[in-house]
Amino acid sequence: MSESTDPALPEDRTAPAGPAAEIAAGYAFTGPALDLGALLWDGACLPDRQIRIPLAMLNRHGLVAGATGTGKTKTLQLIAEQLSANGVPVFLADIKGDVSGITAPGTPGERIDERARDVAQIWEPTGYPGEFYSLGGIGPGIPLRSTVTSFGPVLMSKVLQLNQTQEQSLGLIFHYADTKGLELIDLKDLRAVVAFLVSDQGKPELKGIGGLSTVTAGVILRALTAFEQQGASEFFGEPEFDTSEFLRTAADGRGLVSVLELPAVQDKPQLFSTFLMWLLADLYNDLPEVGDLDKPKLVFFFDEAHLLFSGASKAFLASITQTVRLIRSKGVGVFFVTQTPKDVPADVLAQLGNRVQHALRAFTPDDAKALKATVKTFPRSAYDLEELLTGLGTGEAVITVLSENGAPTPVAATRLRAPQSLMGPVAAADLERAVKSSLLWSRYAEPVDRESAYEKISAEQAAAEAQAEAAAAAAEAEKEAKAAEKEAARAARSAPKPDPSLAEQVVGSGLFRSLARSIGTQLGREISRSIFGTARRRR
Ligand SMILES: Nc1ncnc2c1ncn2[C@@H]1O[C@H](COP(=O)(O)OP(=O)(O)O)[C@@H](O)[C@H]1O
Ligand SMILES: [Mg+2]
Repeated sequence: MSESTDPALPEDRTAPAGPAAEIAAGYAFTGPALDLGALLWDGACLPDRQIRIPLAMLNRHGLVAGATGTGKTKTLQLIAEQLSANGVPVFLADIKGDVSGITAPGTPGERIDERARDVAQIWEPTGYPGEFYSLGGIGPGIPLRSTVTSFGPVLMSKVLQLNQTQEQSLGLIFHYADTKGLELIDLKDLRAVVAFLVSDQGKPELKGIGGLSTVTAGVILRALTAFEQQGASEFFGEPEFDTSEFLRTAADGRGLVSVLELPAVQDKPQLFSTFLMWLLADLYNDLPEVGDLDKPKLVFFFDEAHLLFSGASKAFLASITQTVRLIRSKGVGVFFVTQTPKDVPADVLAQLGNRVQHALRAFTPDDAKALKATVKTFPRSAYDLEELLTGLGTGEAVITVLSENGAPTPVAATRLRAPQSLMGPVAAADLERAVKSSLLWSRYAEPVDRESAYEKISAEQAAAEAQAEAAAAAAEAEKEAKAAEKEAARAARSAPKPDPSLAEQVVGSGLFRSLARSIGTQLGREISRSIFGTARRRR
């Protein structure tokens, strides 16, 4: 990156004191760095002015923003590839299904050649070592699941779209289960606990919790039922995914690229965005403090990040902010990918040291406002950013990163390099083959219903009570049969009665029975919670 002599360029662009040279000098790092592209200045692309990002600064987080179709996903792919090449594992959420191609070599072509020439890139088609995941086994990929207890009350409130009072109440319910040492494995378990607390048997317990009303518990119960009816049961249960799988490198030393395939659950944005947050919180819980490393242990790309923040509660936002702030010293970098910086709360935005801003539109007054706000989030620069940001081409961006000493680099308009892997999805058959041949497939593919564990815990009691229960059930059944006869007679005249299946399911659940048996007793070890109220992993 010499600054003085390049006869091919006009003098004002190469002069040491010129703005282009000054900007480029801000990117002349001494340690290893990822190559993003070449500087754009005065309408020209300058291949000898390389814009880069220090590998050691990738735990300082980042934001990739821009309107749809401007190149955000390809930027993510480009950064992910180079991280992998440098031995850094990467996690990517593949929302549109267009980043699975990172595992396959890219397709050469005229446009790639042209871009490579523009930015002085030696482009070689390359696939990177990857692993494909899916949420709860919906769609192709190794199924990722979380237990309800590990997910915790804050994240659960987010997916149930509870208001603040309800969120606090759910917190009390989790706390109740925690102090009883009750592990809530799947949604059935949580529903059983809530149903128990509002039942006649559970009423005294509910009173003991304090601050939890029957009405609110009832609302939570209905929200849970609705959530289950949307097919959410698949995402909660065991085997719970161990997020340390994301931290692996391939045999050749390259970082493993973990791709979470989300197209099949695109219609559940609240769920998948909250799930991504759980993965991050879980990593945070498990990883030790390491301070600043030569390179991160993992870089986590959070695509469509606006989904995470929209409709988020105060508690939820506070937890995100805290996670992002603290996870850095555990060696994890987080990149949010979204349309405008406005999508990200100021407290989070302030912690995103590396910025790649693609083109913004300025069609509507709202667009214009967003544009002005975006410009304000950048350091002062030699460019007219408002004009620049609306005029950038596809695969071009305005960049500022943290230099090795932690100071922001000068703002640089950049033509980005082209990803060397396939831009677009891999063939479905290839994806399927990769998934089925993964060592993780056998570990995570089959869900395990551990519901019977609770009955095991109080097996002795269960045996003693089985008879009594059977007798009671028989009596109940008889009573119900009689009631049903009467009800049937009445049915023709009266309004439709509520669906009895919920009560039946709840009373039939093993957890309910063990709860009923164990009022006042401790079932297991008290569960401790961390950031987000997520539970610590049992290892
Ligand atoms: N760095 C790049 N190199 C080559 N082509 C690119 C690059 N960035 C974007 N493109 C082109 O632009 C298209 C849209 O980019 P994409 O990343 O999917 O946009 P976004 O994620 O912002 O909607 C890509 O399919 C590709 O053809
Ligand atoms: Mg995209």
